[in-house]
Amino acid sequence: MRSSKYPRIGALPLRTRVSLPISASRSFLVGATLTTQHLLILLRSDYKDDGTNVLLDANENAYGPALSSSITSNKSSNIDFLGLNRYPDPHQHELKQLLCNLRNTKAHTQNSITPDNLFVGVGSDEAIDALLRCFCQPGKDKILVCPPTYGMYSVSAQVNDIGLLKVPLKKAPTFDLDVEAMSKAMSEDRSIKLVYICSPGNPTGSLIPKDQVQAILEHPTYNGIVVLDEAYIDFAPKNSSLAEWVAEWPNLVVLQTLSKAFGLAGIRLGAAFCAPEVAALLNALKAPYNISVPTSVLASNAVSKEGLKVMEDNTAKIVKQRERLIKQLPKIKGVGRFRGGYASNFLLIEILNEKGEPDNVTSLAVYEKLAEKRGVVVRSRGKEHGCLGCLRITVGTEEECTRFLATLPEVIAEVYREHAGLK
Ligand SMILES: Cc1ncc(COP(=O)(O)O)c(C=O)c1O
Repeated sequence: MRSSKYPRIGALPLRTRVSLPISASRSFLVGATLTTQHLLILLRSDYKDDGTNVLLDANENAYGPALSSSITSNKSSNIDFLGLNRYPDPHQHELKQLLCNLRNTKAHTQNSITPDNLFVGVGSDEAIDALLRCFCQPGKDKILVCPPTYGMYSVSAQVNDIGLLKVPLKKAPTFDLDVEAMSKAMSEDRSIKLVYICSPGNPTGSLIPKDQVQAILEHPTYNGIVVLDEAYIDFAPKNSSLAEWVAEWPNLVVLQTLSKAFGLAGIRLGAAFCAPEVAALLNALKAPYNISVPTSVLASNAVSKEGLKVMEDNTAKIVKQRERLIKQLPKIKGVGRFRGGYASNFLLIEILNEKGEPDNVTSLAVYEKLAEKRGVVVRSRGKEHGCLGCLRITVGTEEECTRFLATLPEVIAEVYREHAGLK
């Protein structure tokens, strides 16, 4: 195992402030505090597992994993099942390097990112939470979010007793950032420590233009982090990711995940691309062995040359079905406008009432009937800001889209009939 280049976490004193080189442009790091429970941990990487050592340090089970031989004899994967009695690599350097290779496109900067620019976590949800715990003081600080957006930002803020300031996106269908309103809030409220921007947005599917992100990054007085959540970025046009931009902007954190385009939601692997100082804080704060051996092996395979080819082929199939839905859905009676963009693996569509107006009663009835009577499960988003009467439809396989397209008109007609009968 590669020896650690980070300070030994266990050597840090109680309630220590991690002392890192802080330049003027990185002054947002000053408030970041790590507490005892995150620090008193000795890592296996203090000593190498070179295959000859007797490892009696981590209370592991030397007799091996309690797995049946049908699993341990399986040689078709790269997972060393018999080695699963040992804790995993806490640093994940090789996986981080593969992620850097993927995102060093030179489309947005001539600088390169390295594994020191990365934190990897249990899905990007871990990074969302870790950033809050790292940069916000409970009961005092706030995050800024732009509804309609991914719900986990506010859930995590609530759990951590962090305040929430909402600056809604501009109107559909662009769902642009309201740069002016955001900038005003960032100037006026010094307790805002994180600004969460989702691009492509969930549930909007809209890619936020780079100049809008830049305007937020360039805010003259804001002294916090701008988090750009790119969970769906590989469904957007090529080179849309701004991950490598963290080499230019020390106040930018870009979140990505293998749960979407890579189809690996089950392994839980997310990444935060950021300045090395921010990565060091997040890495010091995390549970030491947050990435399991199977997750690490499968994630590395997914971002290898062969894995990327599969991801690109599957993404192309999804994009083709997305195009099909974009063409076919407007032909269905009762389907209104697309309310968001087309940069993701879902579409946001209006469901209309009998009068041709977007309406939550109708969309909710359609949603329930689709799921309960026809086994087609979509997401109702009508209560979200700017999404009146909207359903969010994930783009499935060709067969799934065929079934959805055949079922939706029947269900809408049924809902209309029922509403007429009730009157
Ligand atoms: C915008 C956005 N960010 C992050 C996530 C969480 O991803 P992960 O599975 O990596 O935790 C999701 C999941 O739906 C999402 O929609």
